Amino acid sequence: MIMKNTEAEMGMIGLGVMGCNLVLNMADHGFAVAGYDRDPVKAAALNQAAGSRKVHGTADLPEFIAALRRPRAIMLLVPAGAPVDAVLEELLPHLEPGDLIIDAGNSHFKDTDARAPKLQAKGIQFLGVGVSGGEAGARHGPSIMPGGPREAYERVRPVLEAVAARVRGEPCVVWLGPGSAGHYVKMVHNGIEYGIMQLLAETYDFLKRVLGLNDDELGAAYARWNQGELNGYLVEITSAIFARSDAKTGRRLIDEILDVARQTGTGLWTSQSAMELQVPVPTIDLAVAMRDMSVFTKDREQAGTVYQRPIRPCPGNRELLLAQWGRALFTAIITIYAQGLALLGAASVKYGYGLDLAAVARIWRGGCIIRAAVLEDINAAYQTRPQLPDLLLDPRLALTVQEHQEDLRASVCQAVNAGVAVPGLMVSLGYLDALRSPWQPANLIQAQRDYFGSHTYERIDAQGTFHTDWEKALTT
Ligand code: 6PG
Repeated sequence: MIMKNTEAEMGMIGLGVMGCNLVLNMADHGFAVAGYDRDPVKAAALNQAAGSRKVHGTADLPEFIAALRRPRAIMLLVPAGAPVDAVLEELLPHLEPGDLIIDAGNSHFKDTDARAPKLQAKGIQFLGVGVSGGEAGARHGPSIMPGGPREAYERVRPVLEAVAARVRGEPCVVWLGPGSAGHYVKMVHNGIEYGIMQLLAETYDFLKRVLGLNDDELGAAYARWNQGELNGYLVEITSAIFARSDAKTGRRLIDEILDVARQTGTGLWTSQSAMELQVPVPTIDLAVAMRDMSVFTKDREQAGTVYQRPIRPCPGNRELLLAQWGRALFTAIITIYAQGLALLGAASVKYGYGLDLAAVARIWRGGCIIRAAVLEDINAAYQTRPQLPDLLLDPRLALTVQEHQEDLRASVCQAVNAGVAVPGLMVSLGYLDALRSPWQPANLIQAQRDYFGSHTYERIDAQGTFHTDWEKALTT
């Protein structure tokens, strides 16, 4: 109770790791914050961690409400889905027109679109805000992706700008657009996150099982990659993971962790939305599929005995191979950003978000999980050409991809020969090869559809749609 005579400028509901850390971050920037969690242990833990800061944690909802300056601004950091609706239901009777609710969890963008008008009907403003950066980001500076009414954003802009990560003095937060723009951008951020993680896992597999690198060598390989064009948070933590010992066994922790990866859904949602909008994001789809496949441990064991084939070594100079694989990884990662940003471009049109993709790249440069040096180039690409249809068409990035594409091709071939699965690298290369191919064999698909279903086809030499009686043509 260190706020007796101070009204809180912000309220936080959900004092889990993210909520608690974000409250402390706000308080460090001089804001008075009230926190509420049903669990009194969490409320007490916040008060303890806050020390003399202007923070008041409580497990009593009316007390929480009373601590807030009016009109109120309340942020929710609770698990997506039903818990958000449950909190809203509990909260609404205590609110008045003019109050603002900020859903800062990983809510599905369609849920955000459904909640906003219901709240608006009661005079409550609503922002759907993506927050990325995990525990450390929440505490010391996340990337923040807000969407909803602009005037609602302006109300809390000083708080969000103060707590966000900073890159070159600029806060990693900007109003992205109306409605669910913020949650949509966060969803795609996570789709890209899934894709990059899958590629990092595939390179790890090749380096470990084909090139025979031990954990120290693996750590060193990723650390070296992190010093160059691949520089980014996910590469950095991958390097650090290999050094970590297991408190229980004394061995490296990575080798004690089960090879099963689960998910909370945002990658899957990205793929679902891309399918709906008919935008190809094959590396993200694949990353979701490989997490699904990792769960089938029994099937994998059985198939491993049925299709036994020892992993073949890859001849060649190890240093040269590592450099080649680094360039391959970077190229594939560029294709993932390209897929994610193309999806954002299409969603922006479909849902009227009016997204500025340069701004999206700018706020992803710091604080978030997919932050990486290449986002500077991506930001520059969209600043020069806001309507760029595919990132791979940016002249500067295209130069890098042109230079590195044979490395990606060679790496995929080496993995295929060795017999380790690199479907993320393969599909990224496939995306690139399909995109750069003026002719695709889709004429055959048109012909097949028309053959069995009279779906008609388009011709290269005339406008309109045409149908052929294919059976008849065969017999005459
Ligand atoms: C972030 C993360 C965060 C969370 C993911 C994990 O940006 O800080 O993306 O939102 O760690 O949702 O997602 P999965 O559980 O689906 O891997």
